[in-house]
Amino acid sequence: MNLRTLEKFRTKYGPYALVAGASEGLGAAYAEALAKRGLNLVLIARKKDALEAFGKAIREKYPVEVICLSADTGDYEKTKNLVTALDVSIGLLVYNAAYCPVGLFEEISEERLAQVVAVNVKAPLLLARLLSQKMIENRRGGIVLMSSLAGTQGSPKLVSYAASKSFNAILAEGLWQELKPHGVDVIACVAGAILTPGYRQAQQAKAPGTLTAPEVAEAALKALGKYPIVVPGGVNKLARFFMGRLLPRSLAIKLMSANTGSLT
Ligand SMILES: NC(=O)c1ccc[n+]([C@@H]2O[C@H](COP(=O)([O-])OP(=O)(O)OC[C@H]3O[C@@H](n4cnc5c(N)ncnc54)[C@H](OP(=O)(O)O)[C@@H]3O)[C@@H](O)[C@H]2O)c1
Repeated sequence: MNLRTLEKFRTKYGPYALVAGASEGLGAAYAEALAKRGLNLVLIARKKDALEAFGKAIREKYPVEVICLSADTGDYEKTKNLVTALDVSIGLLVYNAAYCPVGLFEEISEERLAQVVAVNVKAPLLLARLLSQKMIENRRGGIVLMSSLAGTQGSPKLVSYAASKSFNAILAEGLWQELKPHGVDVIACVAGAILTPGYRQAQQAKAPGTLTAPEVAEAALKALGKYPIVVPGGVNKLARFFMGRLLPRSLAIKLMSANTGSLT
């Protein structure tokens, strides 16, 4: 990336970016990609030690400020209090944290389903509202919400997660249009499989089209300001077109079930 593009990115989305779910995997890749672009960071994750170790590594590698907030985004009030207590200007929100209970819907407790809503729906929705207010006032900024190919159609054994990821894609599309006149860019990153610790834990085999976390973070940040939705990777673009546009819904759900139905 040349100096002019970097400067443009910093002016539009700086001086601070908030990455929610940021100590490892894709969240860490977003944080590093943003530090590389010269943005200061507010990083959120639950495990304080891992988050602070990651924050320290970023500070040592890049000339940026890093603020680490240890919080569960599922507790929106706590997260909001920590964020609003900061005396920094946040020009970019990357909402990456997610909760994905695997199993049959009837076997997943009410508490776990409520946590899906709290982490994957309520937190990105309310953080987007909270942070976009200053962005609108400043007439610049950006919001990146993480979605998933699992949210393109119903996904057996991941039903609540898939529905929550569909919510994020539709939320981003609406905000993309609504916030554009205010100079605020919004995008949903509809990702296929990403090699993250979370993915490795859930899945032994590498699915076709699997990307690394830095590949996905770069694709999303490059597409921000251009499109409402980005699907990183050629195979994943094809899969989304096929599943979302070409196939009858019943067939798309059956095909997805062939992949997700054996998850435990
Ligand atoms: N991995 C894939 O194959 C894949 C595919 C499609 C879409 N996605 C989407 O990509 C995003 C990243 O998914 P991932 O599983 O690969 O995770 P990841 O990027 O490896 O991130 C997990 C990070 O989020 C933090 N985190 C998790 N729950 C949190 C919470 N409730 N509050 C605050 N921080 C939290 C974790 O730290 P702590 O544990 O310390 O909190 C960790 O830093 C998700 O939105 C997911 O839906 C992933």
